[in-house]
Amino acid sequence: MDHRKTFLEAIMTRRSIRDFKPGDIPAEDVEKILRAGIMAPSPGNRQPWRFHVIRGNTKEKFLTILKNANVMPPAEIAKTVKTIPLSWRRLLIKGMETVPVVIVVENSILTKKKEHISVGPLLGTAASVENMLLAIHSLGYGSVWLGFLPILEAAKRVLGISGEVVCVLPVGHPADHQNEYFNRSRKPIEEVATFYD
Ligand SMILES: Cc1cc2nc3c(=O)[nH]c(=O)nc-3n(C[C@H](O)[C@H](O)[C@H](O)COP(=O)(O)O)c2cc1C
Repeated sequence: MDHRKTFLEAIMTRRSIRDFKPGDIPAEDVEKILRAGIMAPSPGNRQPWRFHVIRGNTKEKFLTILKNANVMPPAEIAKTVKTIPLSWRRLLIKGMETVPVVIVVENSILTKKKEHISVGPLLGTAASVENMLLAIHSLGYGSVWLGFLPILEAAKRVLGISGEVVCVLPVGHPADHQNEYFNRSRKPIEEVATFYD
């Protein structure tokens, strides 16, 4: 079997999944996902990531916080936005209602050492997120990188942490039909890459 092709296929076919169908995820698969996360590169191999795996009652508490979250955009954006579409709030919680597992990813180094803005640990943490997204996809599950501030704040509240939450990953079984919320086409290679001889 050509592993390179299989791996590239996983990269090329991963998409953000926002519509899920019910179904559990065994603990072994959650561990595989986390193991993919910890194999990411990080500056000085400091492994800045911390993963909080939310299920059951904690997930229900998270949902309750999200349902009551203020989803208004910041003032400067609010000036340009007349009405918040109802779907925005729905979008915030709908995935979380169905998935069995939510992984909250924290950049722990910035938190613990009170460093000045240090991009390295943040980048390492982001690399772990992409590894996990690809692992989730290759195991047949779906997820989406959620970085919308009210979601990150709700995660901090339910976990009682004050650190830098980089993203929230709902992990579940992809629904057969995915609604298109965003334009996810890619810019052509010629636009984003420059070649030198
Ligand atoms: C830092 C970051 C934050 C994101 N935040 C959100 C979010 O809050 N809600 C959401 O639905 N998607 C979010 N996304 C997912 C992007 O919208 C998505 O990756 C992009 O539209 C490309 O689509 P694809 O992942 O299906 O290829 C985020 C992605 C990144 C990298």
